[in-house]
Amino acid sequence: MLAAPAPAQEPDGYLGEARCATCHGTEQENWAHTVHARVFRSNSRSELAAKGCEACHGPGAKHLEDATDRNAIVAFTRRRGAAVETQSAQCLQCHKGRERLFWQGSVHDTSRLGCSDCHNPMAKLSGSGLLAKSSASETCFTCHQQQRTEFRKRSRMPLLEGKLSCGDCHNPHGSVTRPLLKADHVNQLCTTCHAEKRGPFVWEHAPVRKNCLECHLPHGSSHESLLVVARPFLCQQCHANVSHPANLLTRSNLPRGAVPDERAVNRGCSNCHSQIHGSNHPAGARFQR
Ligand code: HEC
Ligand code: HEC
Ligand code: HEC
Ligand code: HEC
Ligand code: HEC
Ligand code: HEC
Ligand code: HEC
Ligand code: HEC
Ligand code: HEC
Ligand code: HEC
Repeated sequence: MLAAPAPAQEPDGYLGEARCATCHGTEQENWAHTVHARVFRSNSRSELAAKGCEACHGPGAKHLEDATDRNAIVAFTRRRGAAVETQSAQCLQCHKGRERLFWQGSVHDTSRLGCSDCHNPMAKLSGSGLLAKSSASETCFTCHQQQRTEFRKRSRMPLLEGKLSCGDCHNPHGSVTRPLLKADHVNQLCTTCHAEKRGPFVWEHAPVRKNCLECHLPHGSSHESLLVVARPFLCQQCHANVSHPANLLTRSNLPRGAVPDERAVNRGCSNCHSQIHGSNHPAGARFQR
């Protein structure tokens, strides 16, 4: 770049990547395999990116004077000296807006998480996203243990099986919909994958229109099909007064010698009302077809 030997230190206090590497060879070696290294080194269009290590850690001159001074450089680790806002601001220089439009004031921001609670840009530890653990879910589980348990229940979203991840439904960077949901409404979220439940149907089942979570849990459940409670109790919570299947189940209501209709127990209601999410059949008023 320059014909003359590079100055020991640029006037604004930046040292340059090569200088950092004299003492942090291992870190530089690991960092070299990341997206940032590739982009920063090839793309000198951005003046900040051209600063390499110091794009994130800030100018290193003071750090050189006293490496033990925690305030001399922006450090991101837990024993850090820099305030979490300062740390995140370093990343937001290049990453504000888009996915992070609602970072400020989000539950993670106000819980004083920093970018480095989920990201570790110093090495390629995850397939994508420069995460602190091998995957998004593993990263989230470091703090959200209860959800790990939920995804192990008998009926569950196939997350541990690798078919989807927390990030398919939540935006960890912030959202206008609680709790950090990726859509304006739960149903909109669910029907991005379960499109056949979206409707509109000729015969609508009111609670389905209202919210999938009237009947389902989003992560996992001990009841089949992620249901909040087992059938027939699920249905009876709202349909307490239906005359049946009581009359199908109670011997005294049945002809002498007849046994209660097996179809009426357990999954019961769904045996007859099988199109519970809605029906397009001309005679589907009771969701039986
Ligand atoms: C002359 C050697 C030397 C150079 C050059 C150097 N460092 Fe350091 N750095 C150290 C030492 C020693 C430590 C450990 C200090 C400690 O553990 O208290 C350290 C620690 C750090 C830390 C961790 C601070 C913390 O509190 O966790 C970061 C981040 C860091 N250096 C970044 C850089 C960057 C970026 C550069 C280039 C601008 C750089 N260093 C240049 C010697 C150096
Ligand atoms: C994209 C931003 C970014 C860049 C570029 C970057 N770092 Fe880091 N660095 C971080 C973050 C974030 C951490 C905290 C990682 C963690 O959570 O352990 C960190 C941690 C460190 C540490 C503390 C020890 C450790 O690994 O925890 C050192 C030393 C360090 N970086 C040096 C460097 C050097 C040298 C370079 C350039 C070769 C560099 N960094 C480039 C963001 C960056
Ligand atoms: C100088 C600008 C700059 C800074 C500072 C910076 N980044 Fe980046 N980052 C980029 C660029 C450029 C990319 C390449 C992808 C792109 O174009 O968005 C990138 C990509 C990423 C990616 C996506 C990686 C992938 O696998 O697709 C993550 C995650 C990320 N950065 C996190 C961080 C974090 C966390 C910090 C702060 C510790 C940080 N960045 C600081 C410019 C920056
Ligand atoms: C609670 C965890 C968490 C926090 C905190 C977090 N992220 Fe992320 N971030 C993720 C996950 C998960 C992904 C998706 C990674 C993947 O699978 O590709 C991601 C993706 C990204 C990406 C790449 C894709 C995109 O959205 O453009 C960038 C850049 C990024 N994060 C920057 C940041 C910055 C900057 C901060 C701090 C202001 C931050 N993140 C804080 C979890 C987090
Ligand atoms: C460093 C710890 C930490 C990590 C890692 C983390 N979270 Fe959180 N998360 C919190 C804290 C603290 C809160 C706020 C308190 C609470 O509700 O538990 C929170 C809140 C949430 C909420 C909102 C809860 C509500 O009731 O509004 C969601 C959703 C969430 N996190 C999802 C994620 C996802 C997805 C990831 C991974 C991408 C993740 N979190 C990673 C600490 C973490
Ligand atoms: C299929 C979509 C989906 C996936 C995948 C998903 N969530 Fe959720 N999550 C939701 C919905 C919807 C809610 C809202 C529940 C409510 O309002 O009762 C929620 C609620 C939460 C909450 C708030 C507390 C609670 O349980 O109600 C946390 C924390 C959370 N999720 C974390 C995670 C983490 C961590 C992962 C990944 C391990 C994850 N979620 C994966 C859809 C999902
Ligand atoms: C990112 C895509 C995606 C989103 C969003 C999503 N799901 Fe799923 N869901 C799946 C996949 C994949 C399966 C497993 C299907 C299979 O194995 O055939 C599944 C299975 C289910 C099952 C059947 C579980 C069982 O034990 O049989 C129910 C019920 C369900 N989802 C409800 C919901 C609800 C409610 C929402 C919204 C909170 C939602 N889904 C959001 C992808 C998604
Ligand atoms: C009134 C209660 C109720 C509501 C509300 C509800 N479901 Fe269901 N859902 C069920 C029942 C009951 C089953 C089990 C059906 C069976 O066993 O035949 C089920 C099964 C499922 C299944 C797995 C089997 C299949 O049919 O693919 C998915 C996926 C599903 N529901 C998605 C959704 C989505 C998405 C919404 C919101 C648009 C929603 N559900 C709203 C009661 C409901
Ligand atoms: C959260 C409350 C709720 C739950 C749970 C629920 N429903 Fe409904 N259901 C309604 C409402 C509200 C209507 C429409 C009001 C009406 O016409 O009586 C309705 C309508 C119906 C109808 C049509 C009634 C008619 O007169 O046209 C049938 C059949 C039905 N539900 C069966 C079921 C079955 C079977 C289940 C369990 C899988 C179930 N429902 C769960 C609230 C619920
Ligand atoms: C053996 C088949 C069968 C079973 C099992 C069954 N239903 Fe029905 N259901 C019907 C038929 C047929 C009708 C229409 C009756 C009519 O038009 O008079 C009906 C009508 C209804 C209606 C609307 C009319 C009313 O009585 O209010 C509701 C609500 C309903 N069923 C809910 C349920 C619930 C909840 C269960 C489970 C506890 C259930 N059904 C089990 C066959 C069944």
